[in-house]
Parts: sequence; C-alpha cells; structure tokens
Amino acid sequence: MRPTPSPKTYRVKSFGCQMNVYDGDRMAEVLAEQGIAPAPEGEEADLVVLNTCHIREKAAEKVYSDIGRLRREDGSSPLIAVAGCVAQAEGEEIMARAPAVRMVVGPQAYHRLPEMLAEAGQGKRVTDTDMPAETKFGALPQRRRSGPSAFLTVQEGCDKFCTYCVVPYTRGAEVSRPFSALLEEAQKLLEAGAKEITLLGQNVNAWTGEDAKGRVIGLDGLIRELAGLPDLKRIRYTTSHPNDMTDGLIAAHGEIDKLMPYLHLPVQAGNDRVLKAMNRSHTVESYLRILDRVRAVRPDIALSGDFIVGFPGETEAEFEDTLKLVDSVGYAQAFSFKYSPRPGTPAATMDSQVPAEAMDERLQRLQAALNRDQLAFNRKSVGKHCEILVERKGKHPGQWLGKSPWLQSVHFADEPGGEAAIGDIVTVELAEAGPNSLRGTLLQPAHA
Ligand code: SAH
Ligand code: SF4
Ligand code: F3S
Repeated sequence: MRPTPSPKTYRVKSFGCQMNVYDGDRMAEVLAEQGIAPAPEGEEADLVVLNTCHIREKAAEKVYSDIGRLRREDGSSPLIAVAGCVAQAEGEEIMARAPAVRMVVGPQAYHRLPEMLAEAGQGKRVTDTDMPAETKFGALPQRRRSGPSAFLTVQEGCDKFCTYCVVPYTRGAEVSRPFSALLEEAQKLLEAGAKEITLLGQNVNAWTGEDAKGRVIGLDGLIRELAGLPDLKRIRYTTSHPNDMTDGLIAAHGEIDKLMPYLHLPVQAGNDRVLKAMNRSHTVESYLRILDRVRAVRPDIALSGDFIVGFPGETEAEFEDTLKLVDSVGYAQAFSFKYSPRPGTPAATMDSQVPAEAMDERLQRLQAALNRDQLAFNRKSVGKHCEILVERKGKHPGQWLGKSPWLQSVHFADEPGGEAAIGDIVTVELAEAGPNSLRGTLLQPAHA
C-alpha cells in the first residue's frame, strides 16, 4: 500500500459493553496526545476507529457493514482501524476480508496505537492483538476530560467460561488493576469534573488488591476507600457475577451512602438444568438468596439482570421457569437476548439448538414481562422528591436530563425551581413515568 499522510482528525465508534466505551475514551485520549483532533460532527474523519463487540453474531457482522459504509464514491476510504473484541477474535480474518482496514488492535494493545499509526503511515497493514493486561494502563496518558458520570475500569477479563460466551477468549484472564493506580485515576477524573464513578469490569466484583497499608481488600474495600474522596458523590459498579457477591460487598450496600441503590446481577436463566449447561455455577436458589440479602440491607435497591433465551436444549417448561423467576424478582431494568452461537464456545456445538421462531417467541414473552416490571418500578417513583445528577441538556431550552440514584433517566424542566447546570445534584419532583424514563420538575437548585 502507498504511504499516507498522517491523520489530522479521528472518530472512535464504540459498540458493545461499557468497558468498550471506556476503552474508546482512552483511545481518543491516546490519539489526542498525538495531536489528532476529533472530527467535527457530520464531517469525515481521516482516521476511523471501529471499537467492536463480538458477543453476539449480529454485533460481530456489523463491523463489515460499517467498513463498507466508510468507502467513498471513488472506492477509497479513510484510514480504518478495527479495535475491540472482534479485532481480538478475528483479526486475521478481518485483514483478509477487508482490504480497507489498515490496523487491527486488540483490547489489551491500544496503548500502542501511536507506533501502529506510524507504520500504517509507511503503507504497512499492522496487527497487534497481544494479551497482557498490565502493560496497557501504565502506558496510557492521564485522564484530563470527564463528564459528570465517568467510567473507571478496575478489572478486566473473565475466568468463568460460561459455555455460550466469547469474553474469556477476547478479553483474557481476570486481572485486577492495582489500588494506587485506581485511586489516582479516580482523583484525576474528579479534578476533570466527575461527580459519579462507575467501576467497571467483566466481573467487577472479582476485583482484589492491596490498600495503602498493604491489606488485601475486595471491591467493597475499594468502594469504601473511594467513598472517602469528598468530591465523589456517587459510586456504582458493573457487571457482577453472583459467585463473587461477597458478604462484605452485600454489607456495603447497607453501609455506604455514596454507593447507589442499584445492582446489576445477571442470572441468564431461571432453571437449574439450563444454568448447569451454561456453566454458570450458581443455582436459581443461590441467586435469589443473594438478592434477598441485598434487599435486607438496602430495601429500596433497584435490581437489574441479563437473560438469554433459547440456550441449546432449553425446553418450553424450562423457559417458563425464567418467566417465574422474573415474576418473583420484579426487576427495575434488564437486558435480554436470543442465544447466539459463537465460534469456539462449547455451546455452539451442543445438540438441540432451539429453532429461531421459538427463540423469537420466548424473547417477546420475556421482554413483555420485563417491560411490565420496569414500568411498575418507575411508576412507584412518581410523586417522590428525588436527587438527580444532571448529565446533559435536553432538546428544548430549560430542559435537562439526569439520573436518579436508581439509574432511572429523568427529564426535567428547571423553571420555576431555579436553574440547573451539568454536574449539579438537584432535587426533582417526579410527575410522570414511562418504561424507559421519568419526567419531573426542579424543586431545588444545586447543592453539589
Ligand atoms: N460478565 C458479565 C456479562 C458479559 S456479556 C456477566 O457474566 O454477567 C453481557 C451479556 O451478554 C451476558 O450477561 C449475556 O446475557 C449476554 N450474552 C453473552 N454471550 C451471549 C451469547 N452467545 N448469546 C446471547 N447472549 C449472550
Ligand atoms: Fe461471559 Fe460468563 Fe464471563 Fe460473564 S461470567 S463474561 S457471561 S463467561
Ligand atoms: Fe462485547 Fe467485548 Fe464487551 S465482546 S460485550 S465489547 S467485552
């Protein structure tokens, strides 16, 4: 390939989970340090980073259509880099199938983007999908920008090997970032304006480290330490595995005011045979017991989960067990998916794959139940005076969008109660509830 002039503008497009959003922000910071500017809205960027997700077939196929869409009328393309989990899993295939792609960079290698860009500038096509997780963070620039709500990856990778899932292969083994590095990054985010930090990990509650005194601590210890930072108003964490819900973490929900009353705890299915075939290593009963214990210390907690319908061999009766579980929990929010066979995972070659029509029908029934519960949860908030972290402006003047402690999206108008500003925590009277958001009016201006 011909050498190309170095890019002046970039755009990073992230798909998939919040950890990919975090990685996307960090890649943007690396590029900014190279003097490359974000491309203005609506204009083509010289360098496009597609930060991809491999979790389901549709997510992975999207990469190729996105690459196609970047092609100009004369057949040329901007400089394209494919990053994220598809890059990790299918790097060679992407290089073979999509000649327009000049760089393939895995989730643990993106601190090397500057060197890769230099090579691509000389006309080479470069791949880096090396795995060790420790090196990346130390080599990244410090955090200098943040909105009111920031992500902070504390743990990466997964050792659980659920039989349907690609994450252990795309993200590697479980690794916890050191406590001191996290404290420093949190402080930088706060200096840059963050009020809320969401601690991220593929199995965030498997995080472990040593505090400043050398004591071994778990995620609850980390949350406790961060809660001591005066400028930090709200703490959240996601995603958790039921097996790593320690006594300390459950207790933290009742003890730490800054820890928001929201728990995302995926269960996947409501039947023990299916859970075993998924290699989830928890039962319906042990999962429900954890929820009971969290509710005992934090009665108002909003619960959220992930579900898969149509796992190989799932019968109608087994699926109905999932509906029963949903009925008994009353989730405030949830994510549900049709099972998608992923190459290289044990479930992909299991017998009795569930036909597409059955999966469609099960997903519809499950989502109807989950939407019903989500609306019911939101309706219970109507009439409450609620603290909202203001995240951005709404479409109309005087309208704002923020989050309640229970992670509900709240739209509100700031008259007649005064004026709101991004990053404030304000009191809003909630007046109206839909399945995905609430509406209210400002009672009191900032006391952040
Ligand atoms: N580590 C987290 C979730 C990671 S993936 C956990 O264990 O909870 C996010 C969600 O995608 C999973 O919880 C699961 O519900 C869904 N998922 C993962 N692999 C899938 C597959 N092959 N087909 C359909 N959904 C899948
Ligand atoms: Fe995937 Fe299971 Fe690990 Fe979650 S715990 S990332 S679903 S293998
Ligand atoms: Fe997708 Fe990778 Fe996240 S597969 S869900 S982007 S860990």
